[in-house]
Amino acid sequence: MEIKVLTDNFYQVASETLVVPIYEDETCLEGFCKELDEAVNGVISSLFERKEFRAKANETAYLHLAPGLKAQRLLLVGLGKQTKVTATQLRQAAGTAVRFLRAKKIKSLAFLLRDGVTAAKAGQSLTEGAILSTFDPDSYKTRERERNQVNEFSILTTPDNQSAVEQGVTVGKILGDSTNFSRNLVNEPSSNLNPVDMAKHAETIAKEANLTFEALDEEKMKELGMGALLGVSRGSAQEARLIVLRYQHPEADPSKVIALVGKGITFDSGGISIKPSEGMEKMKGDMAGAAAVMGAMRAIGYLKPKASVVGVMACAENMPSGTAIKPGDVLVSMSGQTIEVVNTDAEGRLVLADAITYAREKLGATKIVDLATLTGAVGIALGPVYAGILGTCQELVNQIIATGAEVGERYWQLPLDEEYGEQIQSDIADLKNSGGRPAGTITGAYFIKEFTGDTPWVHLDIASTAMSNDKKPYISKGATGIGVRTLVSWVMSQ
Ligand code: BES
Ligand code: MN
Ligand code: ZN
Repeated sequence: MEIKVLTDNFYQVASETLVVPIYEDETCLEGFCKELDEAVNGVISSLFERKEFRAKANETAYLHLAPGLKAQRLLLVGLGKQTKVTATQLRQAAGTAVRFLRAKKIKSLAFLLRDGVTAAKAGQSLTEGAILSTFDPDSYKTRERERNQVNEFSILTTPDNQSAVEQGVTVGKILGDSTNFSRNLVNEPSSNLNPVDMAKHAETIAKEANLTFEALDEEKMKELGMGALLGVSRGSAQEARLIVLRYQHPEADPSKVIALVGKGITFDSGGISIKPSEGMEKMKGDMAGAAAVMGAMRAIGYLKPKASVVGVMACAENMPSGTAIKPGDVLVSMSGQTIEVVNTDAEGRLVLADAITYAREKLGATKIVDLATLTGAVGIALGPVYAGILGTCQELVNQIIATGAEVGERYWQLPLDEEYGEQIQSDIADLKNSGGRPAGTITGAYFIKEFTGDTPWVHLDIASTAMSNDKKPYISKGATGIGVRTLVSWVMSQ
């Protein structure tokens, strides 16, 4: 999709459709709305009067062959109440417009930018919404596939704001494409995406975005004593990989290293503690944390913030077999701590334990953010709306929550009081890998915390937000790409 920034007048623009965002509390008695209303012979005020269009968020009204405009069609998109308009509403409005017009086989549109959100941010969020809404999850369909795509998205602004909007567009494109990249990985069936395939994708991305790539194989992991990660992989015919992508700005302090760590279970059957068959197909997406890290590193490589960032992806497949770990087994992690595996389905925390130790001891991480589809319990607590956030550094937690709110990814904090640690005490080892059903998200995070030492750390549990069951303005069914834009925006703000 090509994104252009134009300074034409709204009635002169030559796109097939002019898209105008409208506020819910607008009257069209004055200002721009009045001007537009007059240009189209009062259709807008008439729609308002008859209450056929109220401009609620993402509500649409489509006018064909609008008189007084060079564009042959006019699409009104509701933004909701003017006082509440933020980047989120613009991102959604762009997605709503692209999806609506795509279904009408329209190829080009011009989206009119109005005041409310700063020019750069507006350019960025419209671009993100447009690119994210073009994502199709049905690449394996051979029939009845909607192939039409809006391929030209123009933003109409004033000459004063043009360069700021253009800067926003550049950032928005990178973030939109990187999120779609991550979504594709999450949606990919495990038959086509095992840990070694993940490493191949990371290597390709590294070349494209100028990052350093490295992947540890099982032999190297054995040398390093990564008994927890290797334990998870042991039952599978696929080899595990610990993938590292590195970004280093020449002027950034190399002693301050941000580590983004992702759970990369390319299929989670549960292992010997096997999952019920109902819904098990969703476990191809159990590498969404690693996919978000890979997408974020891609964007960071292109955006070049003044920072040192490592992306660490702990990739393995969790399968039952004669060689698999069994409940009751004890694993020795890279940190030296021993783990009694009471449930082989609590595997995410095992691979993260070694990945985090590696990030701290070998990569010099001074701040850690991990992302993982870690617990079903987070979906019971927060549903598909908020992801869980927990951590040892409140300032870091606050920063990520605030960044998330800006990019339209919501995080809700859960506590990590010491008492929760009692649930994962083992009688025979340092820790056990499951604390049972109560406070499942918290005890999962608590387990990971035991491997973070004194390094400030934040954990995002994205198990209930990485995949969507329904279509939203810029989200399709399946992978949402959550995390990519939060991580990148947070790194940019450091
Ligand atoms: N990958 C799952 C968590 C999950 C559940 C992700 C639903 C996406 C959707 C994770 O490995 C898991 O199985 N967790 C267990 C932990 C329990 C055994 C302590 C769970 O949530 O049941
Ligand atoms: Mn599991
Ligand atoms: Zn899992």
